Amino acid sequence: MFLRKSIIALTGLFLCIFLIVHLSANIILLLPQETARGLYNAYATTLRESFLIKIVAYVLYLSIILHVIYAIQITFKNRRAKPKKYLENKLRQNSSWASQNMGLLGVAILLFLVVHLANFWARIKLGLGEGVRLDDNGHVDVYEVTYSLFQNSYYVFFYTVLMVPLGLHLHHGFKSAFMTLGFYHKKGLNILAKISLAYAGMMSIGFGIIPLMVYLK
Ligand code: HEM
Repeated sequence: MFLRKSIIALTGLFLCIFLIVHLSANIILLLPQETARGLYNAYATTLRESFLIKIVAYVLYLSIILHVIYAIQITFKNRRAKPKKYLENKLRQNSSWASQNMGLLGVAILLFLVVHLANFWARIKLGLGEGVRLDDNGHVDVYEVTYSLFQNSYYVFFYTVLMVPLGLHLHHGFKSAFMTLGFYHKKGLNILAKISLAYAGMMSIGFGIIPLMVYLK
């Protein structure tokens, strides 16, 4: 059980780092179109062609898979070992809604990820579905794929609303990962809670606002 929890914590923290890098890259989308297209496409091409990044990408896929599988196992195990009613109430008083519903929040994020990977990754990396054009520099026009997706208000709504469960999941998950890995310093935990809140807020607002801004561009 502890090994599984540690794997969830370690893969979760790795995914948190990925999100910081991913958001930083996606902020390019907010620049004026003339600058954004070239930069975004050049960045995406560099990543796709780098051998080192290819290895990091495989670690990323493996992390997502392990995180999901072990999280499902632990959620069901906890459900089976459900404490008696009074213990449950006591637990509720001492923990947030997010900590009680990490599984549900995880399912919402997984739904987001399946749609997101079908929108981008499957088209750009696997070459599935509608073909993607090249830009003037001969780079795959990832900017165009993103830009045209976010002209559709249903997708804008989907991408923005699902950043709420992402934020809640990250808020609890970030601090809880450190605690699982043995971080229990009293003062440190207060600081960690603040960092966790700031991190989750930045990720959900950052990712949530980009589709809206692109739509309104
Ligand atoms: C504004 C929101 C977002 C935009 C515009 C966006 C854009 C993209 C694009 C363009 C790609 C394909 C890159 C390429 O292959 O060249 C991609 C891949 C990916 N995105 Fe996002 N993304 C967003 C939010 C998210 C969020 C919130 C998550 C996680 C919860 C996420 C997880 C991923 C993953 C796992 C990949 C595959 C990475 C790889 O193959 O290396 N994205 N995204």
